[in-house]
Amino acid sequence: MLFRNDKNDDKEPGSNETQVPLLPLRDIIVFPHMVVPLFVGRQKSIRALEEATQKQEPIFLSSQKDAKTNDPTETDIYPIGTLGTVVQMLKLPDGTVKVLVEGKKRAKVVRFLTHPDFFLVGVEEIAEVVDRTPEVEALIREIHTTFENYVKLKKKIPPEMVMSVSSIADPSRLADTIVGHLGIKLEERQNLLEIFNAAERLEKVLGHMRAEIEILEVERRIRSRVKRQMERSQKEYYLNEQMRAIQKELGEKDEFKNEIQEIEDKVKQKKLSPEAKEKVEKELKKLKMMSPMSAEATVVRNYLEWILAIPWNEYTDEKLDIKEAEKILEEDHYGLDKVKQRILEYLAVQSLAGQIKGPILCLVGPPGVGKTSLGRSIARATGRKFVRISLGGVRDEAEIRGHRRTYIGALPGKIILSMKKAGSSNPVFLMDEVDKMSMDFRGDPSSALLEVLDPEQNQAFNDHYLDLDYDLSKVMFVTTANSMDRIPRPLQDRMEIIRIAGYTELEKLNIAKKYLVEKQRKANGLKAENIVLPDNTLLGLIRHYTKEAGVRSLEREIASLCRKVAVQVIKKDRDAKINIGARSLHKYLGPVKYRYGRADEEHKIGVTTGLAWTEMGGELLSTEATIMPGKGQLIITGQLGDVMKESAQAAMSYVRSRAELLGLEKDFYQKVDVHIHVPEGAIPKDGPSAGITMATSLVSALLRVPVHHDLAMTGEITLRGTILPIGGLKEKVLAAHRGGLKRVIIPQENAKDIEEIPQVILKTVEIDLVANMDDVLKKALVLEDPASFMKKKNVDPPEEPPPFGGQGQEEPRADILPQ
Ligand SMILES: Nc1ncnc2c1ncn2[C@@H]1O[C@H](COP(=O)(O)OP(=O)(O)OP(=O)(O)O)[C@@H](O)[C@H]1O
Ligand SMILES: [Mg+2]
Repeated sequence: MLFRNDKNDDKEPGSNETQVPLLPLRDIIVFPHMVVPLFVGRQKSIRALEEATQKQEPIFLSSQKDAKTNDPTETDIYPIGTLGTVVQMLKLPDGTVKVLVEGKKRAKVVRFLTHPDFFLVGVEEIAEVVDRTPEVEALIREIHTTFENYVKLKKKIPPEMVMSVSSIADPSRLADTIVGHLGIKLEERQNLLEIFNAAERLEKVLGHMRAEIEILEVERRIRSRVKRQMERSQKEYYLNEQMRAIQKELGEKDEFKNEIQEIEDKVKQKKLSPEAKEKVEKELKKLKMMSPMSAEATVVRNYLEWILAIPWNEYTDEKLDIKEAEKILEEDHYGLDKVKQRILEYLAVQSLAGQIKGPILCLVGPPGVGKTSLGRSIARATGRKFVRISLGGVRDEAEIRGHRRTYIGALPGKIILSMKKAGSSNPVFLMDEVDKMSMDFRGDPSSALLEVLDPEQNQAFNDHYLDLDYDLSKVMFVTTANSMDRIPRPLQDRMEIIRIAGYTELEKLNIAKKYLVEKQRKANGLKAENIVLPDNTLLGLIRHYTKEAGVRSLEREIASLCRKVAVQVIKKDRDAKINIGARSLHKYLGPVKYRYGRADEEHKIGVTTGLAWTEMGGELLSTEATIMPGKGQLIITGQLGDVMKESAQAAMSYVRSRAELLGLEKDFYQKVDVHIHVPEGAIPKDGPSAGITMATSLVSALLRVPVHHDLAMTGEITLRGTILPIGGLKEKVLAAHRGGLKRVIIPQENAKDIEEIPQVILKTVEIDLVANMDDVLKKALVLEDPASFMKKKNVDPPEEPPPFGGQGQEEPRADILPQ
């Protein structure tokens, strides 16, 4: 027994009751071995303390169930508490008291005694059970390590505590010491106080400690996360502030504002479509909220700039004066009457109807015939701006229509780009080389063109980048191509094809005289008197230094002459007059580059002059046949194409079928070998139009009768000797004229094409129409007695097959037609 017991006599006999004053505690529970400072204000409590100190006796420390109760009664106080001693007591000036109490032993209130000044209670000490089993030892160890961790996390506990706790070996005391450091509620503490078995208490304490460690760890994690976030947002905030400060310093913020203002002003000036206006406003709103330096702002700004850079309903005044337009077209180009006529019609309709909704013009012709420059001329004649794009090599739809804005570095397509360049909504828009477009996996550009070139659709052309409907309906589209067959069908369908054939020598001469010489003279800074180029010189240039359907090389050669003259002018005298004669051309331009086939000087056996069509114009193509003793072989040489070889065989079959009539032995072919050769390696040779030429050479060689030297011919032959029409007549006749030939034999069915041939040419070249091979032979061979030729008795004329479709006309073959 710890305390003296001399106060109360009426205690139950045999009990260990001690009578002591009670100090009701608020919000604190004092455990044994704990030293706690307390501030005491209540009179009753102060009296209890005074009693204990005066009598030097213990005091019972027990908690109120509710801290807020000011004047507690017996039931408001936990019956189990701690007997303790007052170590020190200090009266403060305000009447309150500060005491230091130390807990000693667990005890239990047995009864409340009556005392006028304070609570007087009878208490009994509680015997504690301490088993030192291995389990308890393990618990103690566990408590020690857990406490260490706990202290690490709970910053409020001084680290020295670990040391002092680890030195406590008594399980009961260990448990009570640690409870003092646990952050648990009052009731829970009380519960722990009421556990008298030390092992049990230790276990509970461990549980509480673990739970708290867990909470502390979560707290720590949250704290560090919050800290990180704070740091990041603080950093961003700081950097942004800094950037703003820098921008302000540089005046960029103001610049940005100015820029937005500028855009707004521009929007007001532009006649944007309602859709475009709405879009611009939306984008502007977005832009204002962005940081001026951000990547998004750049994208939006670029987009707005594009919208504002292209013309919206801005028109140049159109000239609708037909006479004026005609004058301009004449000024720029020689000839091309058909094209000019068509352009004037177009303008006339436009001035009457007020708009263009006709098909798109498509100029088709060989290189250098002025297709592109005509486009420019049309613009000049109509008072429109001129833009041109080349579709050569375009293989991606996006090149026409642009890329969506979501792509990095996206731009509008060629159409919108050109509209920006044009700066007006009604330019002449030349699409060069529509036949040179190709297509690949990225899509077919022609499909985009279909929309552009369709007057029904193009008032709402949609570029991927702009993503707005753009009106192209006032644009005058003109396209050009070298060849029709590479233009996709649906595109052809939308266009009106105007063919420009190659120029004749005469036309070239005129173009050179009237346009090219003048143009190049000026371009090279020469005065009119500095250079004189007589017609003969120009013809020499045309014939021997160029080989083309157009006049591009001719212009280049003239330019070259001008440069050479310029050097002489500078060297000698600024007013020098240099006359370049045809003979001196080689001095300026080097040796002759091209030679043309000329008529043979005399009639020859087995040699016939044929006519070929190439992209550069017509060509003379002689055919030789020779007969050798042999076994009926037909040898064909000269790099001929398949169709031409077959044509040679057809000619041979015709001759065999007419052997009798021609006066040949029936089996003549079994005793001889026949060799047909077509020289002129540079000319591509295919197509059936040399049929009659080869047949003529064959017959001439077999009969040993010469062919007229001043005659050329062209025509396809059937096995029965019928002659089928050919293409490219104009160019072929021009070649014959250039070669100095007097007569040209052509198929009867080509009669309709004669009107294409210039009259001047027809004055010197006689055209002979033929329907079958027999006629050709009569006209081509140099016969002593033409009347009796092929007129042997009892021989019927060859039987004709029924004509195709009853029309008496065979379909012209596509492969021989020029484009
Ligand atoms: N009839 C003509 N009158 C005056 N100049 C002409 C005529 N035809 C062509 N030219 C001139 O020939 C040159 C070549 O013409 P252009 O470039 O228009 O040819 P193109 O038909 O577009 O050829 P390509 O198919 O190769 O593009 C230009 O300088 C042009 O002015
Ligand atoms: Mg061109």
